[in-house]
Amino acid sequence: MTVPTAPTAPTAPTAPTASPAATAGPAGARETPEAVFDAAVAADERIEPRDWMPEAYRASLVRQIAQHAHSEIIGMQPEANWITRAPSLRRKAILMAKVQDEAGHGLYLYSAAETLGVSRDELLDKLHTGRQKYSSIFNYPTLTWADVGAIGWLVDGAAITNQVPLCRCSYGPYARAMVRICKEESFHQRQGYEALLALSRGTPEQHAMAQDAVDRWWWPSLMMFGPPDDESSHSAQSMAWKIKRHSNDELRRRFVDICVPQAEALGLTLPDPELRWNEERGHYDFGAIDWAEFREVLKGDGPCNEQRITQRRRAHEDGAWVREAAAAHAAKHGEATR
Ligand code: ACO
Repeated sequence: MTVPTAPTAPTAPTAPTASPAATAGPAGARETPEAVFDAAVAADERIEPRDWMPEAYRASLVRQIAQHAHSEIIGMQPEANWITRAPSLRRKAILMAKVQDEAGHGLYLYSAAETLGVSRDELLDKLHTGRQKYSSIFNYPTLTWADVGAIGWLVDGAAITNQVPLCRCSYGPYARAMVRICKEESFHQRQGYEALLALSRGTPEQHAMAQDAVDRWWWPSLMMFGPPDDESSHSAQSMAWKIKRHSNDELRRRFVDICVPQAEALGLTLPDPELRWNEERGHYDFGAIDWAEFREVLKGDGPCNEQRITQRRRAHEDGAWVREAAAAHAAKHGEATR
Protein backbone atom coordinates (compact mmCIF):
# COMPACT_ATOMS: atom_id res chain seq x y z
CA MET A 1 0.00 0.00 0.00
CA THR A 2 1.12 3.63 -0.31
CA VAL A 3 2.55 4.68 3.03
CA PRO A 4 2.09 8.33 3.95
CA THR A 5 5.33 8.64 5.94
CA ALA A 6 7.37 5.50 5.35
CA PRO A 7 10.70 5.39 7.19
CA THR A 8 13.59 4.22 5.02
CA ALA A 9 15.92 2.66 7.59
CA PRO A 10 14.94 -0.70 9.13
CA THR A 11 13.76 -0.32 12.72
CA ALA A 12 12.69 -2.72 15.44
CA PRO A 13 9.00 -3.55 15.18
CA THR A 14 6.85 -1.18 17.18
CA ALA A 15 3.12 -0.88 17.59
CA PRO A 16 1.74 1.27 14.76
CA THR A 17 0.69 4.79 15.72
CA ALA A 18 -2.75 5.05 17.19
CA SER A 19 -3.70 8.54 16.08
CA PRO A 20 -3.47 9.11 12.35
CA ALA A 21 -2.30 12.48 11.04
CA ALA A 22 -3.59 13.81 7.73
CA THR A 23 -1.15 13.71 4.79
CA ALA A 24 -1.36 14.97 1.24
CA GLY A 25 -2.85 12.49 -1.26
CA PRO A 26 -1.77 12.19 -4.91
CA ALA A 27 -3.98 15.09 -6.01
CA GLY A 28 -2.82 17.28 -3.15
CA ALA A 29 -6.05 16.64 -1.23
CA ARG A 30 -5.69 15.94 2.49
CA GLU A 31 -5.92 12.18 3.01
CA THR A 32 -6.00 10.63 6.47
CA PRO A 33 -3.94 7.48 7.10
CA GLU A 34 -7.26 5.82 7.89
CA ALA A 35 -8.50 6.61 4.38
CA VAL A 36 -5.22 5.27 2.95
CA PHE A 37 -5.67 2.07 4.99
CA ASP A 38 -9.30 1.64 3.89
CA ALA A 39 -8.37 2.22 0.25
CA ALA A 40 -5.52 -0.31 0.44
CA VAL A 41 -7.83 -2.96 1.91
CA ALA A 42 -10.50 -2.20 -0.70
CA ALA A 43 -7.91 -2.50 -3.49
CA ASP A 44 -6.66 -5.84 -2.12
CA GLU A 45 -3.23 -4.39 -1.35
CA ARG A 46 -1.14 -5.66 1.55
CA ILE A 47 -0.83 -3.79 4.82
CA GLU A 48 2.79 -3.89 6.00
CA PRO A 49 4.19 -3.53 9.55
CA ARG A 50 5.14 0.15 9.24
CA ASP A 51 1.85 1.18 7.64
CA TRP A 52 -0.69 2.93 9.79
CA MET A 53 -3.48 0.57 10.82
CA PRO A 54 -6.47 0.84 13.16
CA GLU A 55 -5.65 -0.37 16.66
CA ALA A 56 -8.55 -2.87 16.49
CA TYR A 57 -7.13 -4.34 13.25
CA ARG A 58 -3.73 -4.76 14.92
CA ALA A 59 -5.26 -6.30 18.05
CA SER A 60 -7.40 -8.71 16.04
CA LEU A 61 -4.39 -9.85 14.03
CA VAL A 62 -2.34 -10.37 17.19
CA ARG A 63 -5.20 -12.43 18.63
CA GLN A 64 -5.60 -14.62 15.55
CA ILE A 65 -1.92 -15.04 14.68
CA ALA A 66 -1.01 -15.81 18.31
CA GLN A 67 -3.79 -18.38 18.57
CA HIS A 68 -2.59 -19.87 15.32
CA ALA A 69 1.07 -19.99 16.47
CA HIS A 70 0.09 -21.56 19.81
CA SER A 71 -1.92 -24.20 17.92
CA GLU A 72 1.11 -25.14 15.87
CA ILE A 73 3.36 -25.72 18.87
CA ILE A 74 0.72 -27.38 21.07
CA GLY A 75 -0.20 -29.47 18.01
CA MET A 76 3.25 -31.09 18.16
CA GLN A 77 2.25 -32.99 21.30
CA PRO A 78 -0.44 -35.43 20.15
CA GLU A 79 1.64 -36.68 17.25
CA ALA A 80 5.01 -36.61 19.02
CA ASN A 81 3.36 -39.11 21.35
CA TRP A 82 3.78 -41.69 18.54
CA ILE A 83 7.34 -40.99 17.39
CA THR A 84 8.87 -43.74 19.53
CA ARG A 85 6.10 -46.17 18.56
CA ALA A 86 5.86 -45.57 14.80
CA PRO A 87 5.49 -48.94 13.04
CA SER A 88 8.61 -48.60 10.85
CA LEU A 89 11.76 -46.51 10.51
CA ARG A 90 10.26 -44.83 7.42
CA ARG A 91 7.09 -43.82 9.31
CA LYS A 92 9.20 -42.62 12.25
CA ALA A 93 11.39 -40.41 10.01
CA ILE A 94 8.32 -38.94 8.29
CA LEU A 95 6.59 -38.24 11.60
CA MET A 96 9.68 -36.58 13.09
CA ALA A 97 9.98 -34.33 10.03
CA LYS A 98 6.30 -33.44 10.28
CA VAL A 99 6.45 -32.56 13.97
CA GLN A 100 9.53 -30.41 13.28
CA ASP A 101 7.61 -28.66 10.50
CA GLU A 102 4.88 -27.76 13.00
CA ALA A 103 7.51 -26.20 15.27
CA GLY A 104 8.74 -24.19 12.28
CA HIS A 105 5.18 -23.01 11.54
CA GLY A 106 4.92 -21.78 15.11
CA LEU A 107 8.16 -19.83 14.68
CA TYR A 108 7.09 -18.13 11.41
CA LEU A 109 3.81 -17.18 13.04
CA TYR A 110 5.38 -15.80 16.24
CA SER A 111 7.68 -13.76 13.99
CA ALA A 112 4.67 -12.46 12.05
CA ALA A 113 2.99 -11.50 15.34
CA GLU A 114 6.16 -9.71 16.49
CA THR A 115 5.91 -7.35 13.51
CA LEU A 116 2.75 -6.04 15.21
CA GLY A 117 4.69 -4.82 18.24
CA VAL A 118 4.23 -7.74 20.63
CA SER A 119 7.00 -9.96 21.96
CA ARG A 120 7.15 -13.73 21.76
CA ASP A 121 7.67 -13.92 25.53
CA GLU A 122 4.48 -11.97 26.10
CA LEU A 123 2.51 -14.28 23.79
CA LEU A 124 3.91 -17.45 25.34
CA ASP A 125 3.11 -16.11 28.77
CA LYS A 126 -0.50 -15.56 27.67
CA LEU A 127 -0.66 -19.13 26.36
CA HIS A 128 0.80 -20.57 29.57
CA THR A 129 -1.59 -18.61 31.77
CA GLY A 130 -4.69 -19.40 29.67
CA ARG A 131 -5.19 -15.81 28.43
CA GLN A 132 -4.83 -16.84 24.79
CA LYS A 133 -6.36 -19.85 23.10
CA TYR A 134 -5.07 -22.60 20.85
CA SER A 135 -7.10 -24.80 18.55
CA SER A 136 -9.71 -27.01 20.20
CA ILE A 137 -8.58 -29.98 18.10
CA PHE A 138 -5.35 -30.52 20.01
CA ASN A 139 -7.21 -31.34 23.20
CA TYR A 140 -8.13 -34.82 21.97
CA PRO A 141 -5.96 -37.89 22.66
CA THR A 142 -4.04 -39.97 20.10
CA LEU A 143 -4.97 -43.47 21.21
CA THR A 144 -3.59 -45.57 18.34
CA TRP A 145 -1.15 -45.27 15.43
CA ALA A 146 -4.15 -44.72 13.12
CA ASP A 147 -4.73 -41.40 14.89
CA VAL A 148 -1.53 -40.10 13.30
CA GLY A 149 -3.04 -40.87 9.89
CA ALA A 150 -6.40 -39.35 10.84
CA ILE A 151 -4.71 -36.17 12.08
CA GLY A 152 -2.80 -35.85 8.81
CA TRP A 153 -5.85 -36.46 6.64
CA LEU A 154 -8.55 -34.65 8.61
CA VAL A 155 -6.84 -32.14 10.92
CA ASP A 156 -4.20 -31.01 8.43
CA GLY A 157 -6.83 -31.20 5.69
CA ALA A 158 -9.10 -28.86 7.68
CA ALA A 159 -6.10 -26.62 8.40
CA ILE A 160 -5.32 -26.30 4.68
CA THR A 161 -8.96 -25.55 3.81
CA ASN A 162 -8.92 -22.77 6.41
CA GLN A 163 -5.42 -21.51 5.68
CA VAL A 164 -5.14 -21.37 1.89
CA PRO A 165 -7.43 -18.29 1.87
CA LEU A 166 -5.18 -16.77 4.58
CA CYS A 167 -2.40 -16.59 1.93
CA ARG A 168 -4.50 -13.66 0.64
CA CYS A 169 -4.91 -12.09 4.08
CA SER A 170 -4.59 -8.29 4.00
CA TYR A 171 -1.66 -8.30 6.46
CA GLY A 172 1.56 -8.98 4.51
CA PRO A 173 3.71 -10.89 7.04
CA TYR A 174 0.84 -13.25 7.95
CA ALA A 175 -0.09 -13.87 4.32
CA ARG A 176 3.52 -14.61 3.36
CA ALA A 177 4.03 -16.98 6.31
CA MET A 178 0.92 -18.86 5.21
CA VAL A 179 2.30 -19.63 1.74
CA ARG A 180 5.07 -21.84 3.07
CA ILE A 181 2.90 -23.26 5.83
CA CYS A 182 0.24 -24.34 3.34
CA LYS A 183 2.80 -26.07 1.13
CA GLU A 184 4.07 -28.06 4.09
CA GLU A 185 0.56 -28.77 5.39
CA SER A 186 -0.33 -30.14 1.99
CA PHE A 187 2.49 -32.68 2.32
CA HIS A 188 1.31 -33.51 5.86
CA GLN A 189 -2.21 -34.11 4.64
CA ARG A 190 -1.01 -36.52 1.95
CA GLN A 191 1.19 -38.49 4.34
CA GLY A 192 -1.79 -38.90 6.70
CA TYR A 193 -4.01 -40.04 3.85
CA GLU A 194 -1.38 -42.53 2.71
CA ALA A 195 -0.89 -43.90 6.24
CA LEU A 196 -4.66 -44.37 6.63
CA LEU A 197 -4.91 -45.99 3.20
CA ALA A 198 -2.25 -48.54 4.18
CA LEU A 199 -4.21 -49.39 7.32
CA SER A 200 -7.55 -49.45 5.55
CA ARG A 201 -6.18 -51.95 3.00
CA GLY A 202 -4.40 -53.98 5.69
CA THR A 203 -5.71 -56.70 7.99
CA PRO A 204 -9.30 -56.49 9.32
CA GLU A 205 -7.83 -55.28 12.64
CA GLN A 206 -5.86 -52.52 10.91
CA HIS A 207 -8.94 -51.49 8.92
CA ALA A 208 -10.98 -51.34 12.14
CA MET A 209 -8.27 -49.22 13.78
CA ALA A 210 -8.37 -46.73 10.87
CA GLN A 211 -12.17 -46.57 11.03
CA ASP A 212 -12.11 -46.01 14.80
CA ALA A 213 -9.65 -43.12 14.39
CA VAL A 214 -11.83 -41.48 11.73
CA ASP A 215 -14.89 -41.96 13.94
CA ARG A 216 -13.17 -40.06 16.77
CA TRP A 217 -11.51 -37.27 14.73
CA TRP A 218 -14.30 -36.39 12.27
CA TRP A 219 -16.50 -34.20 14.47
CA PRO A 220 -13.67 -32.40 16.29
CA SER A 221 -12.17 -31.63 12.84
CA LEU A 222 -15.42 -29.93 11.81
CA MET A 223 -15.25 -27.85 15.01
CA MET A 224 -11.82 -26.52 14.04
CA PHE A 225 -13.50 -24.04 11.68
CA GLY A 226 -14.95 -22.22 14.66
CA PRO A 227 -18.50 -21.58 15.86
CA PRO A 228 -21.41 -21.27 13.41
CA ASP A 229 -21.49 -17.96 11.55
CA ASP A 230 -24.33 -16.54 13.63
CA GLU A 231 -22.24 -17.10 16.79
CA SER A 232 -18.86 -16.01 15.39
CA SER A 233 -17.98 -12.76 17.14
CA HIS A 234 -15.06 -11.78 14.90
CA SER A 235 -15.99 -13.00 11.41
CA ALA A 236 -17.86 -9.96 10.10
CA GLN A 237 -15.13 -7.47 11.01
CA SER A 238 -12.29 -9.82 10.03
CA MET A 239 -13.90 -10.36 6.65
CA ALA A 240 -14.43 -6.61 6.16
CA TRP A 241 -10.70 -6.14 6.85
CA LYS A 242 -9.90 -9.10 4.56
CA ILE A 243 -8.06 -10.93 7.33
CA LYS A 244 -10.55 -13.76 6.79
CA ARG A 245 -11.80 -14.31 3.26
CA HIS A 246 -14.58 -16.81 4.01
CA SER A 247 -16.89 -17.47 6.91
CA ASN A 248 -16.50 -20.42 9.30
CA ASP A 249 -19.54 -22.26 7.91
CA GLU A 250 -18.50 -21.69 4.32
CA LEU A 251 -15.08 -23.29 4.90
CA ARG A 252 -16.62 -26.11 6.94
CA ARG A 253 -18.98 -26.94 4.03
CA ARG A 254 -16.06 -26.86 1.61
CA PHE A 255 -14.13 -29.28 3.83
CA VAL A 256 -17.03 -31.74 4.05
CA ASP A 257 -17.40 -31.67 0.24
CA ILE A 258 -13.69 -32.47 -0.14
CA CYS A 259 -13.67 -35.27 2.44
CA VAL A 260 -16.65 -37.37 1.35
CA PRO A 261 -15.11 -38.68 -1.91
CA GLN A 262 -11.74 -39.07 -0.19
CA ALA A 263 -13.34 -41.24 2.51
CA GLU A 264 -14.92 -43.38 -0.22
CA ALA A 265 -11.53 -43.81 -1.89
CA LEU A 266 -10.05 -44.78 1.49
CA GLY A 267 -12.76 -47.38 2.02
CA LEU A 268 -13.75 -45.71 5.31
CA THR A 269 -17.07 -44.33 6.50
CA LEU A 270 -17.60 -40.86 7.92
CA PRO A 271 -19.56 -41.19 11.19
CA ASP A 272 -22.57 -39.16 10.15
CA PRO A 273 -25.81 -40.90 9.09
CA GLU A 274 -27.19 -37.59 7.81
CA LEU A 275 -24.40 -37.05 5.33
CA ARG A 276 -25.87 -36.94 1.82
CA TRP A 277 -25.47 -35.01 -1.41
CA ASN A 278 -27.91 -32.14 -1.83
CA GLU A 279 -28.45 -31.72 -5.56
CA GLU A 280 -30.13 -28.36 -5.14
CA ARG A 281 -27.39 -26.77 -3.01
CA GLY A 282 -24.54 -28.54 -4.77
CA HIS A 283 -23.07 -29.50 -1.39
CA TYR A 284 -23.27 -32.37 1.06
CA ASP A 285 -25.76 -31.95 3.90
CA PHE A 286 -24.37 -33.07 7.23
CA GLY A 287 -25.63 -33.70 10.77
CA ALA A 288 -25.65 -31.32 13.72
CA ILE A 289 -22.33 -30.55 15.40
CA ASP A 290 -22.22 -30.90 19.18
CA TRP A 291 -21.43 -27.28 20.02
CA ALA A 292 -21.75 -27.99 23.74
CA GLU A 293 -18.67 -30.22 23.42
CA PHE A 294 -16.82 -27.43 21.56
CA ARG A 295 -17.63 -24.94 24.32
CA GLU A 296 -16.44 -27.41 26.99
CA VAL A 297 -13.11 -27.84 25.20
CA LEU A 298 -12.70 -24.05 24.84
CA LYS A 299 -13.45 -23.64 28.54
CA GLY A 300 -10.52 -25.96 29.32
CA ASP A 301 -12.56 -29.08 30.05
CA GLY A 302 -11.65 -31.17 26.98
CA PRO A 303 -10.07 -34.62 27.34
CA CYS A 304 -6.46 -33.36 27.23
CA ASN A 305 -6.48 -29.59 27.98
CA GLU A 306 -4.77 -30.01 31.33
CA GLN A 307 -2.14 -32.39 29.98
CA ARG A 308 -1.33 -30.21 26.95
CA ILE A 309 -0.79 -27.01 28.87
CA THR A 310 1.16 -28.69 31.69
CA GLN A 311 3.46 -30.31 29.14
CA ARG A 312 3.89 -26.98 27.29
CA ARG A 313 4.82 -25.12 30.47
CA ARG A 314 7.29 -27.86 31.40
CA ALA A 315 8.89 -27.77 27.93
CA HIS A 316 9.23 -23.99 28.23
CA GLU A 317 10.91 -24.26 31.64
CA ASP A 318 13.19 -27.08 30.47
CA GLY A 319 14.21 -24.95 27.48
CA ALA A 320 15.23 -21.93 29.58
CA TRP A 321 18.93 -22.83 29.37
CA VAL A 322 18.72 -22.98 25.55
CA ARG A 323 17.24 -19.48 25.40
CA GLU A 324 19.87 -18.18 27.84
CA ALA A 325 22.69 -19.82 25.85
CA ALA A 326 21.34 -18.41 22.58
CA ALA A 327 21.09 -14.92 24.08
CA ALA A 328 24.64 -15.18 25.51
CA HIS A 329 25.95 -16.37 22.14
CA ALA A 330 24.19 -13.52 20.31
CA ALA A 331 25.62 -10.99 22.77
CA LYS A 332 29.15 -12.42 22.39
CA HIS A 333 28.84 -12.56 18.62
CA GLY A 334 27.58 -8.97 18.60
CA GLU A 335 30.64 -7.88 20.63
CA ALA A 336 33.05 -9.77 18.38
CA THR A 337 31.75 -8.12 15.21
CA ARG A 338 31.54 -4.61 16.65
N1 ACO B 1 -10.42 -23.63 18.77
C1 ACO B 1 -10.25 -22.72 19.77
N2 ACO B 1 -10.85 -21.51 19.75
C2 ACO B 1 -11.62 -21.23 18.68
C3 ACO B 1 -11.82 -22.10 17.62
C4 ACO B 1 -11.18 -23.36 17.69
N3 ACO B 1 -11.32 -24.28 16.75
N4 ACO B 1 -12.63 -21.53 16.71
C5 ACO B 1 -12.95 -20.31 17.20
N5 ACO B 1 -12.35 -20.14 18.40
C6 ACO B 1 -12.47 -18.99 19.28
C7 ACO B 1 -11.98 -17.72 18.65
O1 ACO B 1 -10.58 -17.56 18.81
C8 ACO B 1 -12.78 -16.68 19.40
O2 ACO B 1 -12.26 -16.52 20.70
P1 ACO B 1 -11.51 -15.17 21.19
O3 ACO B 1 -12.46 -14.05 20.94
O4 ACO B 1 -11.20 -15.40 22.62
O5 ACO B 1 -10.27 -15.07 20.35
C9 ACO B 1 -14.11 -17.36 19.56
O6 ACO B 1 -13.85 -18.76 19.51
C10 ACO B 1 -15.14 -16.95 18.51
O7 ACO B 1 -14.77 -17.44 17.23
P2 ACO B 1 -14.76 -16.56 15.90
O8 ACO B 1 -15.38 -15.23 16.16
O9 ACO B 1 -15.33 -17.36 14.80
O10 ACO B 1 -13.18 -16.37 15.73
P3 ACO B 1 -12.35 -16.09 14.40
O11 ACO B 1 -13.06 -15.14 13.51
O12 ACO B 1 -10.97 -15.77 14.83
O13 ACO B 1 -12.34 -17.51 13.64
C11 ACO B 1 -10.73 -19.25 13.23
C12 ACO B 1 -11.75 -18.64 14.23
C13 ACO B 1 -11.47 -19.74 12.01
C14 ACO B 1 -10.03 -20.41 13.93
C15 ACO B 1 -9.72 -18.13 12.82
O14 ACO B 1 -9.15 -17.53 13.96
C16 ACO B 1 -8.61 -18.63 11.95
O15 ACO B 1 -8.79 -18.84 10.77
N6 ACO B 1 -7.39 -18.78 12.53
C17 ACO B 1 -6.20 -19.16 11.80
C18 ACO B 1 -6.10 -20.65 11.67
C19 ACO B 1 -5.76 -21.35 12.97
O16 ACO B 1 -5.57 -20.76 14.01
N7 ACO B 1 -5.64 -22.66 12.92
C20 ACO B 1 -5.22 -23.40 14.07
C21 ACO B 1 -5.38 -24.85 13.89
S1 ACO B 1 -4.60 -25.50 12.50
C22 ACO B 1 -3.13 -26.12 12.94
O17 ACO B 1 -2.47 -25.65 13.79
C23 ACO B 1 -2.63 -27.34 12.22
